[in-house]
Amino acid sequence: MSQRFYITTPIYYVNGAPHIGHAYTSIAADVMARFKRLDGYDVFFVTGTDEHGQKVEQAARAAGLDPQTFVDQISADFQDMTAKMGVSNDDWMRTTEARHKVSCAELWRRIAANGHIYLGHYEGWYAVRDEAFYDESELTTRADGTKVAPSGAPAAWVREPSYFFDLSKWQDKLLELYETHPDFIAPTSRRNEVTSFVRGGLRDLSISRTSFTWGIPVPDAPGHVMYVWLDALNNYVTACGFPDETAARWPFWPADVHVVGKDIIRFHAVYWPAFLMAAGLPVPKRVTSNGWWVVEGEKMSKSLGNVVEARQLVATYGLDQVRYFLMREKAFGADGSMSDQAIVSRINVELANDLGNLSQRSLALIARNCDGVLPARHPGTGTGTPSEDDAGMDAVAAALPGLVRDHLERQGFHDALEEVWKVIRAANGYIDRQAPWALNRTDKARMGTVLRVLVDTLRAVATVLQPFMPDSMSRMLDQLGVAADQRQLAALAVPLPDGITLPAPHGVFPRYVEPTA
Ligand code: MSP
Repeated sequence: MSQRFYITTPIYYVNGAPHIGHAYTSIAADVMARFKRLDGYDVFFVTGTDEHGQKVEQAARAAGLDPQTFVDQISADFQDMTAKMGVSNDDWMRTTEARHKVSCAELWRRIAANGHIYLGHYEGWYAVRDEAFYDESELTTRADGTKVAPSGAPAAWVREPSYFFDLSKWQDKLLELYETHPDFIAPTSRRNEVTSFVRGGLRDLSISRTSFTWGIPVPDAPGHVMYVWLDALNNYVTACGFPDETAARWPFWPADVHVVGKDIIRFHAVYWPAFLMAAGLPVPKRVTSNGWWVVEGEKMSKSLGNVVEARQLVATYGLDQVRYFLMREKAFGADGSMSDQAIVSRINVELANDLGNLSQRSLALIARNCDGVLPARHPGTGTGTPSEDDAGMDAVAAALPGLVRDHLERQGFHDALEEVWKVIRAANGYIDRQAPWALNRTDKARMGTVLRVLVDTLRAVATVLQPFMPDSMSRMLDQLGVAADQRQLAALAVPLPDGITLPAPHGVFPRYVEPTA
């Protein structure tokens, strides 16, 4: 039986419309999920929406809708965006679903039964926008006296009865987890940040609220709803069927990778494993954190009017082009800036020119000079015999899947793409040196061998690029004569049959030309 792989995205707050930042996290997780499927894993990939809490309740009120109607609309919009980004999720989790309410009540009961919850009184700072509690020392005071969290979110003093989770007792266990599982938090800079936060000591965490009602009721505690982060984090086990441990998806727990933004690493790498350990459940294997996108150097904000809508971007540039740009332009863990100019340059230089032209040039020569029949490598000792240059090209292409696999294991999306482009650049060098168009007149056998080396290289390239650009690579593999059931990584070991007729080639990546007004 194939190995299992469970990957998640954060579930998105439904207080506002989706934008490119949300799409980015989902596309990154999608590339991982698709790559693992290609590599023979049994994959479970979950995304969805985070629908409870004060922030969502306030947004519903501002929209003049009851919370359920409001979250139904926005969740549907997120689901539409997710589908339009080509995200291949296996489930769509909504925290207002009945299955999730059952799961949260049971998680709470287990943590309580193990003695980790007590009733108290919360008094302190809370930032609704972050749905997070802050220490006075973490806040700054504005000229008008208002307090703001490090994220820029305004904080208010709250005082209410609350249940507490004994987080302070989990410091040693958490540090031991980070120590014994060095891959638990990625990248290293975040790991260090989380470790020093935990070393600094942890306070017990308020995990219920009584000042509003839009949340999951605490079992046997009228008036209390669960803290939205306890509710939200638990979506990852709900999706596996918790608490039904006979559910088909239960064997997927613990998750292999939680993909999360750098702003929410603390919730995932500190609170979440502590909750799970307290409930007696296994902890996830890895929490990997992505950096943020800004637009032309500026943070996206409604007031600046520079919020990039993912579907809009796709309408302008094409889905695979946008997916490629997002994965290529910046390292996953780092922040990056997007601009139209940067997108157009990636499309025209790397997709249209480097890859598109290489495939078009190679396939057009086969169409023209070989009657569209895939040439065999010349077997004999004549002029068509493989050369050192061919062997070099083959070796580079053969090493590619392993290199891509290694990078993606560490969410090195942009390094993986750099490896692919090294091969593409090598192939462009090879075609220029070998000049198969000239060989057509002088040495047909040699031309056939060269074109076949190019097709085999392009096949390796298109196979590993499928997770990044599924539609375009499917079209490229069609043109290369690769059967639909021969597109897994393992299939690269089986050569394409000689003598098959290839379909007429057509360009896969058009250049982007600014529309004239
Ligand atoms: N609801 C919580 C997550 C709960 S998970 C149990 C939440 N939602 S969010 O909608 O505010 O953010 C979801 C994700 O989008 C986060 O990982 C966040 O980092 C990411 N991004 C939001 N804006 C972003 C950019 N501008 N750039 C990149 N990612 C960004 O937090």
